Amino acid sequence: MSQAWMVASGKGGVGKSTVTAALAAALARRQLPTVAVDTDMGLRSLDMLLGLQDRIVYDVVDVINKDCKLKYALVQYTLSPALSLLPASQLGNWEDISADRLARVVHKLKKRFSYVLMDAPAGLERGLSTLTALTDFSLLVVTPDDVSIRDAERVIALLDGQHKPKPMLVVNRVVAQLVESGDMYSPQVVADTLDVPLLGYVPEDMAVLRALARHHTVLDENGPARDALLRISRRFVGEYVPMPPLKRKRRFFFFTRG
Ligand SMILES: Nc1ncnc2c1ncn2[C@@H]1O[C@H](COP(=O)(O)OP(=O)(O)OP(=O)(O)O)[C@@H](O)[C@H]1O
Ligand SMILES: [Mg+2]
Repeated sequence: MSQAWMVASGKGGVGKSTVTAALAAALARRQLPTVAVDTDMGLRSLDMLLGLQDRIVYDVVDVINKDCKLKYALVQYTLSPALSLLPASQLGNWEDISADRLARVVHKLKKRFSYVLMDAPAGLERGLSTLTALTDFSLLVVTPDDVSIRDAERVIALLDGQHKPKPMLVVNRVVAQLVESGDMYSPQVVADTLDVPLLGYVPEDMAVLRALARHHTVLDENGPARDALLRISRRFVGEYVPMPPLKRKRRFFFFTRG
């Protein structure tokens, strides 16, 4: 049975696209037919995160408007034929998108792929409520701060209002040292506050920025974020993978005379 997932957050810039791209690439590594759908109209980013920015001809709005067939808008991931991208439109916006037509596109995608991962736009506007109606399950990406948690509560309320299942939670940009000193919520505290199951957490990691600069996913950069996202992808498909304890970075002290 194929599944449509929405990756949402409420607050912008918390790592939805980073998580979507890495999760999609991880599922494809397991040969699971997956499509990543960028729904951030006007602000697309998944193409860059997957290194496919030079290969886009058509986008999701062209498909919705029947300017092209779905198969011509799908861009195959260079590193795995199991993953395709359906890019967002750089010009269109959610106000022009017919919910019924998008539903038909998602229905077609579900026939073709086991996992349809829809990277939602930030905010609680029309785009999010349209996607909420189309999704079977959702992944909530939250950073461990009050603003992100409060915005995530609004997304949970939206899902609840549409009788959708509780989302799974990914807490991103966790800094073990700050959690230890009491200056940042632990991932479990965030999950308990939101009352949703914790799928995993991703540490703050410079490798994520390196991956962004190099136009590939975090899976192609060694580091704790990559390891965490691989664990998350395994839990996502139902494997039992224990949550490792938060690790502080080792510190080196240099004593200088002076
Ligand atoms: N674990 C992390 N460690 C370090 N930087 C990160 C981490 N996760 C995300 N980032 C950085 O945070 C920024 C925002 O990430 P991303 O674009 O994935 O967020 P988003 O939620 O999709 O944003 P938007 O709401 O604008 O769509 C990017 O520069 C990304 O590289
Ligand atoms: Mg994004």
